[in-house]
Amino acid sequence: MSTDDGISSESANINSNNLRHIAIIMDGNGRWAQKRFMPRAVGHQAGVKAVRKIVEYCAKQKIEVLTLFAFSSENWRRPEEEVSLLMGLFMATLQSEINKLDRNNIRLRFIGDRAAFSDKLQAKMTEGEAQTKDNNALTLVIAANYGGRWDMCQAFRTVAEKIAVGELKKQDISEQLINQHLSTADLPEPDLFIRTGGEQRVSNFLLWQLAYTELYFTEILWPDFDQKSLEDAICSFRKRQRRFGHTGEQLLDKLL
Ligand code: IPE
Ligand code: IPE
Ligand code: MG
Repeated sequence: MSTDDGISSESANINSNNLRHIAIIMDGNGRWAQKRFMPRAVGHQAGVKAVRKIVEYCAKQKIEVLTLFAFSSENWRRPEEEVSLLMGLFMATLQSEINKLDRNNIRLRFIGDRAAFSDKLQAKMTEGEAQTKDNNALTLVIAANYGGRWDMCQAFRTVAEKIAVGELKKQDISEQLINQHLSTADLPEPDLFIRTGGEQRVSNFLLWQLAYTELYFTEILWPDFDQKSLEDAICSFRKRQRRFGHTGEQLLDKLL
């Protein structure tokens, strides 16, 4: 149920916040490897294993959407060797996982500017999306060459084009209209944001979409992030009172 101001009645329930969408910045692969005196590549490989477990858990828990930040629009600044390793790992992971995701009824989606990727990788991404498009368990969104600022720019550009050809008027610009042009248009907004690896920043992830998301930061390095770590994050989320601008008293009144 929704009220006129778009606040769902579930959000008023202090201890059982509705959890539809989890968005994660998977950070700390490099430090995980360095701590073990191993090359960063090993950390990225271990990171893929952690992804598998978390995806499995979210599907089992009937989470609707899991968005994972795999490669930011700023990650091209890394040494060429690391970038090419990440591209190779991305390709290999898609090759080995798409059928598995499909068998588990998981819908795969990518957000980000994919034009920068190789033709082969782009083709694999398209294939993965097409193969799993009708699945209706978890939607797994991989943010690849994604930046929150990029997302807003591409939305504004499309809106501007529509205004230029007379399909829209400038008075039509509203929060809802911008939302409809973001790469996440058809998805619920993230309820819970998690960043592993100890940094407390958003690093150009879903900037617009995180407006009312609950933020959770943990020191755990991504390859060590497991089911128990995710349960701890969810537990913290469940205890929070999401007020969306209301007072705590108003929310309690709604419950009575
Ligand atoms: C996150 O781990 C993975 C990507 C950005 C692709 P990092 O590689 O950033 O790991 P740290 O932060 O250097 O430990
Ligand atoms: C954010 O991590 C991007 C991903 C996890 C893909 P970074 O490690 O790139 O973030 P900064 O550079 O420390 O902010
Ligand atoms: Mg990092």
